[in-house]
Amino acid sequence: MPNKASPVLFSGMQPTGDLHIGNYLGALKTWTAIQYDYRPIYCVVDYHAITVYQEPKALQEKIEEMAALYIAAGIDPEHSTIFVQSTIPQHVELAWVFSCVTPVGWLSRMTQFKTKTEQQESVGTGLFVYPALMAADILLYQAGVVPVGDDQTQHLELTRDIAGRFNSLYGETFVVPKTELPSVGARIMGLDDPTQKMSKSAPGSNHSISLLDSPSRIKKLIGRAVTDTKPAVDFNDLGEGVANLITIYQACSGADNEETREVFSGVQYGVLKKAVTEALVEKLEPLQKKFRDLTADRDVVRGILRHGTERAAPIAEKTMQAVRQKVGLYMHR
Ligand code: TRP
Repeated sequence: MPNKASPVLFSGMQPTGDLHIGNYLGALKTWTAIQYDYRPIYCVVDYHAITVYQEPKALQEKIEEMAALYIAAGIDPEHSTIFVQSTIPQHVELAWVFSCVTPVGWLSRMTQFKTKTEQQESVGTGLFVYPALMAADILLYQAGVVPVGDDQTQHLELTRDIAGRFNSLYGETFVVPKTELPSVGARIMGLDDPTQKMSKSAPGSNHSISLLDSPSRIKKLIGRAVTDTKPAVDFNDLGEGVANLITIYQACSGADNEETREVFSGVQYGVLKKAVTEALVEKLEPLQKKFRDLTADRDVVRGILRHGTERAAPIAEKTMQAVRQKVGLYMHR
């Protein structure tokens, strides 16, 4: 059991789009596995979500559903703090302060910003300062450990830089989080294009499997997944699509490499796909049942979120008081 000396862990996901098996096998599953080694805080980052327009009613629904998914996936609300970012306004307050100490050049270098803005005509300023808000999320709670996917490592590096710059301007205030991440789990690629990481925003109906897809839909999608022109699994020369299916199988079944080789060497792709489908369905079924229960009657989730805010808010306010003091913002006296 962690005690006061265990590091704080902070992570978050945006309540947009459908969560897919890549989010689960890549991140959520790891969050649940490591939660007892830390003092964990899992946030639903709705302020980040509105950096691109969200339909307001749908957003509110999605926020609770995201929290329900955290819990259905195994985040233990007795142990872990689960809350919604916008219920603690100190996040945006600190983000403003950070945006004042962050050179424009640092933000311009962010590859996610560059790729996200490439196809758009007009981009909100929020998308540009997004990493300052992410830094605020993490540093408000003095988190030492931040499990994120590799698409977020540049943002995490920036968080370290912002913490360092603030500390040198105003005096030691923030814990600088570690860059070496607890392994975040499997990297799942798109089913239609195994050279691209599975992503919420990728087009194409054969790209990803939603966490809430039915067994028959999972079967259909795995059936259509790209393989290669070889007749059977050849571990000496695995095509990317086949390797991806095997990764999914291992992440769901827990089978190690040796076991997996034994089971699938020389096996036809149809047989492999059947095994992957079964492993996925078996892994997702309990999660889906719990999710359905939690979203049918939302009182439980709402109570957990309320409680999460009550736990996190005093920590955030304590950090902000130190920040206001150090920066020289006015405090009534
Ligand atoms: N930017 C992250 C993503 O899109 C989400 C996020 C926001 C986050 N704040 C965070 C992740 C703080 C870890 C810590 O995936």
